[in-house]
Amino acid sequence: MEFATLKRTPVFKALSSLGKRIYQPNGIFYWTGRAKKEAEINATIGTAVGFESDIIEGGREKLLTYYLPELKQYINLPPEKFASYAPIAGLPTFRDLWEKWIIYKGKNAINLPSGTIDVSGKITKPAICNGITNSIFLISRFFLNPGEKIICPNKRWGNYNSVLHQHNELKIETFQFFKGDQLNIKGILKLMQQISEVQDKIVLILNFPNNPTGYCPTKTEIQDILNLLKEFCSSSEKPVIIFCDDAYEGYSYSDTRVGTSIFYELIDLHPNLIPIKLDGASKEFLMYGGRTGAITLGIHSSWLSSSEKEKFLEEWENKMQGMIRSTISNSNHFCQEVLIEIMSEGFKKMQESRNKIYEILKKRYFASINAFDKYKTDGITMDPAGGGFFVFLNIDKIRADKFADHLLQKYKVGTFPVMSEEEKINGIRVAFCSIPLEKIEETFRRIKQTLSDLS
Ligand SMILES: Cc1ncc(COP(=O)(O)O)c(C=O)c1O
Repeated sequence: MEFATLKRTPVFKALSSLGKRIYQPNGIFYWTGRAKKEAEINATIGTAVGFESDIIEGGREKLLTYYLPELKQYINLPPEKFASYAPIAGLPTFRDLWEKWIIYKGKNAINLPSGTIDVSGKITKPAICNGITNSIFLISRFFLNPGEKIICPNKRWGNYNSVLHQHNELKIETFQFFKGDQLNIKGILKLMQQISEVQDKIVLILNFPNNPTGYCPTKTEIQDILNLLKEFCSSSEKPVIIFCDDAYEGYSYSDTRVGTSIFYELIDLHPNLIPIKLDGASKEFLMYGGRTGAITLGIHSSWLSSSEKEKFLEEWENKMQGMIRSTISNSNHFCQEVLIEIMSEGFKKMQESRNKIYEILKKRYFASINAFDKYKTDGITMDPAGGGFFVFLNIDKIRADKFADHLLQKYKVGTFPVMSEEEKINGIRVAFCSIPLEKIEETFRRIKQTLSDLS
């Protein structure tokens, strides 16, 4: 594939050497796909195939991928919905549904500065991968060469360090996430300016609601980020790539906070701005073990004429397939089928059912804020939050690991210490998402006890 259309957009220029090089040849999945439609005898794929009646008494006279009959005791779906491979970038029905889900969320956006946003026709078909962790790995390799810089907040999900730095050999450039009780937007700008002097692209990862703080920005803060990005892009020739890690999208608990991904606002903000949405079923569909995620690019309206669009989508698809096939090959078939069943019943229905869990988490969130206030004491502060699954407590003077150890040993409360001298972090992450409501106040009382024991 020549990628002639992709090459005419700012996206190609922004790719890493791997991103430029990778492609998906017409390999086995191509020939199998064709054979399924065209062949009388299909001798393509290396999976054991035959009539179900060959392996099960009373089985159907239907050609399918052989499976261990015992599996049927555990799984309700017909075997053809889990035993065979899913296509490289996901089941077409599932991808269509995930695209519709993204569009639905934009049309029902909560508190975005532009109100609701319709991204129909402005996004690529979501490429299904093995969760957001995997999507961060893939997309950062796709855009950045080893040794290049990526901007992250100092308060970030710890696994970014392993994926981006240890594994992909990127340099994580960090800004202090907060200035007072607000997002440190100037800190982002400063790093963007610094990096643009030494690198031919600027890459930033945004994660709202944030792990580990739970921070959800206000509408004004989102608008400030948009203004900053627009201004920066207008004064720089360099592409700005933004990875929106939307793991906790939808889990915002306050009327004054934005509950929808900033991704929607980034599409069409500036031709040199390349927004990538990283979604996962782990939190959105409470299916952590399903290991299912999606990578979706926002397309700027100036990049393509209407006649070029199809070609562009085909070329992007080929590159995504190349990335997926060369690493995980393809994603969990079973989980995609289960999600198809759930999503096909309507997003409203799914949301209504998820709402029970959302409301429980919301109560736990407010109970955490109240309990923290009740046991407030010098030497410990809570970061601003607003959503997600966690709150973060900054601890003065006592090492966070020592604090967490004492809290666990003496008071039997498990938390997660986060420490980085360089990044000025010393605190514990409290996962209120996993504490029953009636235990929340007691958790914070024990945290206060720990502080007074160690002070
Ligand atoms: C910010 C953030 N991104 C990504 C993930 C991982 O998501 P997934 O389970 O889809 O790999 C997590 C999970 O802890 C997270 O907190």
